[in-house]
Amino acid sequence: MTKIAIFASGSGSNAENIIEHFQGVEDVEVVLVLSNNKEAFVLERAAKYSVPTFTFSKDMLQNSSKVVDVLLKSNASIIILAGFLLKIPESLVKQFPNRIVNIHPALLPKYGGKGMYGMNVHRAVVENNEKESGITIHYVNEQYDEGEYIFQTSCVVLSSDSPEVVQQKVQQLELIHFPTVIESIL
Ligand code: GAR
Repeated sequence: MTKIAIFASGSGSNAENIIEHFQGVEDVEVVLVLSNNKEAFVLERAAKYSVPTFTFSKDMLQNSSKVVDVLLKSNASIIILAGFLLKIPESLVKQFPNRIVNIHPALLPKYGGKGMYGMNVHRAVVENNEKESGITIHYVNEQYDEGEYIFQTSCVVLSSDSPEVVQQKVQQLELIHFPTVIESIL
């Protein structure tokens, strides 16, 4: 049995999509959803599927072994960052080398790095008159958005597209591809 843990900070549409996908896959299971945000809607989504949740503070993540302990106890062998907005500490990267996967809502290396998350990314894409955007699924190393790429795919950005429209196009790509890309690397 391959056990997956998902980190998410917000709505959790990707987390829910991944949980649902793997309900239909033998020998793979999402065993834990972790969040730094007690109010995050992802926690309600997880509860709907009876997936256990764990919440923690930024300080707990960065300055204690609590989160690593909970992960080890869950027996998760792969960690998925699905809209997780804090930096993963080096200790956690070292504990799960090449076993942490992030999705970024743009075509890295463009529009990555600190502060580039969610709508900030789509606003920057529109402001720069980009003709395309997309998603990047990549391994996580000690630097923001710099680990080895696993998968990229793009969508067209029209000059009339608002950041919200770009967000919808990118979310569509995320929902289609993220679960199957994860499955392909298990
Ligand atoms: C997703 O679009 C994801 O790519 C992005 O946050 C959104 C979360 O949506 N991640 C980042 O910006 C990470 N830098 P969700 O909570 O509905 O899955």
